[in-house]
Amino acid sequence: MSPIAHFNGKLLPLDQIHISPLDRGFIFGDGVYEVIPVYGGAPLRGREHFERLQRSMDEIRLKNPHTVDEWMDLTSRLLEHHPGDQSVYIQVTRGAPLKRDHVIPKDLEPTVFMMCYPLASPSAQQVENGVACVTARDFRWEKCHIKSTSLLGNVLARQISYDAGAVETIMLRDGMVTEASASNVFVIKDGVVLAPPRDHLILLGITYELIMRLAEDGAVRIDVRPIAEAELRSADEVWLSSSTKEVLAVTTIDGKPVGSGKPGPLFRRMHALYQEHKAKLTRRAVAA
Ligand code: PDD
Repeated sequence: MSPIAHFNGKLLPLDQIHISPLDRGFIFGDGVYEVIPVYGGAPLRGREHFERLQRSMDEIRLKNPHTVDEWMDLTSRLLEHHPGDQSVYIQVTRGAPLKRDHVIPKDLEPTVFMMCYPLASPSAQQVENGVACVTARDFRWEKCHIKSTSLLGNVLARQISYDAGAVETIMLRDGMVTEASASNVFVIKDGVVLAPPRDHLILLGITYELIMRLAEDGAVRIDVRPIAEAELRSADEVWLSSSTKEVLAVTTIDGKPVGSGKPGPLFRRMHALYQEHKAKLTRRAVAA
C-alpha cells in the first residue's frame, strides 16, 4: 500500500500523485520546502517551521496558499495516517504554467505537496561517539537563508562527505564557517557556544534557534558572531544541528580529532536539554 500524502488539498496514495513536467519546481527548482520532525504524533516547533516557510515564500515572491493555522491543520490530518515518530516534508512550488519562461508568471496556482516518512533520528552510537565531518569551500549562492528546493549546491557538498565516509560537509566561505550541507554548525571554545550570524549565508535552523533558547535557559554562554576556519580547527567541541540530526557532536574534521576526540561535556549537557525538551512535548501530546 502506497503511503498517504497531501497534494493540492487532497489526501491521496503517494503513487497516485502526478506532477506536470512544466511545473516550475521541476523545470527551475522554483519552490521552497520544510522538514518538520514529529515525536509520538506531536510536531516539534511546527508553527516556527511554517513561519519560516512564509519567510522563504516572501523572499521568492510566492503567495502562501495557507495560513500557519491551516498548515498546522493539514499537518494534523496527514499525521492521522502516520502515527509515531515521523518527518513531515512540505514543498510548495510556483506551479505549472503553459510554457517555460524564466519570468515569474502572474496568478499561477502554486503546487502544494506534503508527505511523511519515518524519522531517522541519530543512532545511540552516533550520540555516544560523535560523527566525522569534512570541510569544503561553500560554493553555493548568496541566498542560503531561503529554504529553496534548488539544492544542487547542497547535494554536491553532501556528496563530498559521503564519498569520504563522513556524515556532513562543513562549508567555509572566505575563511569563515557558514553551515553544513543540511545542518547548522556550532563551535565551542572555552565554555562558550559560538554560532554563525543569522544572515543570508546560512539557513537559520529551527533547531539552531531551539539550541539558542535551551542554552539561554540552561545558562550556557553563547556568542553569535562570524567564526574563522582556524577557530573551527582548534575548537574544544563542534556540533551539528538539524530537525533530523537534533544535536550531534563532531569528533573528527578532515580526519583530525576535534578537542579530545570524544563528544564534550557541553555537548552532553545540550543533548540532555534537547531530549528533555522532546520528552516534554510528547508528554503534553499524550495528555491533550
Ligand atoms: N535540512 N542548513 C541547511 C542547509 C539545511 O538544509 C538544514 C535542514 C539546516 C537545519 O535547519 P533545521 O534545524 O530547521 O532543520 C541548516 C533539512 C533537515 C533537510 O533538508 O532535510
